[in-house]
Amino acid sequence: MPLVTTTDMFKKAYEGGYAIGAFNVNNMEIVQGITEAAAEEQAPLILQVSAGARKYAKHVYLIKLVEAALEDTNLPIALHLDHGPDFETCKSCIDGGFTSVMIDGSSSPFAENITLTKKVVEYAHANGVVVEGELGQLAGVEDDVNVEHHSYTDPDQVQEFVETTGVDSLAIAIGTSHGAYKFKPGQKPQLRFDILEEITRRLPGFPIVLHGASSVIPELVQKINTYGGAMPDAIGIPEDMLRQAAKSAVCKINIDSDLRLAMTASIREHMALNPADFDPRQYLKPARSAIKDMVQRKIQNVLGCSGKA
Ligand code: G3H
Ligand code: 13P
Ligand code: ZN
Repeated sequence: MPLVTTTDMFKKAYEGGYAIGAFNVNNMEIVQGITEAAAEEQAPLILQVSAGARKYAKHVYLIKLVEAALEDTNLPIALHLDHGPDFETCKSCIDGGFTSVMIDGSSSPFAENITLTKKVVEYAHANGVVVEGELGQLAGVEDDVNVEHHSYTDPDQVQEFVETTGVDSLAIAIGTSHGAYKFKPGQKPQLRFDILEEITRRLPGFPIVLHGASSVIPELVQKINTYGGAMPDAIGIPEDMLRQAAKSAVCKINIDSDLRLAMTASIREHMALNPADFDPRQYLKPARSAIKDMVQRKIQNVLGCSGKA
């Protein structure tokens, strides 16, 4: 099956009360672990690539890995640019085989965000590619940008943004954040479901995206620290809150940090227990399995998209 856009996936997810996982990929083991899990679950899948991932692995390697995953699994897979920083990066991904791009104008003033997003939408749609825009700003660390506080999405802006730009989906800020440190120690995790509800009322039937949706599984942080790591207290979004979101207008849920934690915990454990090992296959094999297990856990506990491929 060739790569697909997210149009059909989102329509079915919206109607079916589930969400599609968008998992960040950076290398072969990550692509394999994710797609093996999705294949076993027969789940639709979004593989997403950040500007940092393109810089790390090179566009062509990532494209070829995703092509291999398609050939291997026959699943509906969309290839998405995560946090496209500018028009040129989006254009390069559209020209280079991606089926979906995000233009992240969320740090710009509303009018500038609209102008930039509209420009990307015009180019993308002319080439059969779909576009995710963003309104509101998440707290947390993403690439080189560290945002201290949330700027929740203003429901009064969403209709104008979507109608003027023509975007196909909208990422919103309701209290999720990027990275492993989403809440301060002692702080109670919470999401603004009231804002989500109001946005849904203003945009009936329109697919919403949640970034920063890792749950930061405590056992993984513990394992990292047991085997030589020194992570401070890390708190994520509880899985039941994300499950609730997945049943609503939220059709795409972005997960990266939980994969990083799973892979790192596995490699740390292997190295601590096998200190003489120097064969990358010996530690990357369990690391790939850890990615697979994490994605299966997300499909079952959070996304609800098992069997929807
Ligand atoms: O939201 C950002 C993703 O976690 C990607 O992170 O830019 O370090 O690849 P990255
Ligand atoms: P996490 O850091 O919570 O995994 O979020 C990833 C993300 O939003 C990628 O765009
Ligand atoms: Zn993000």
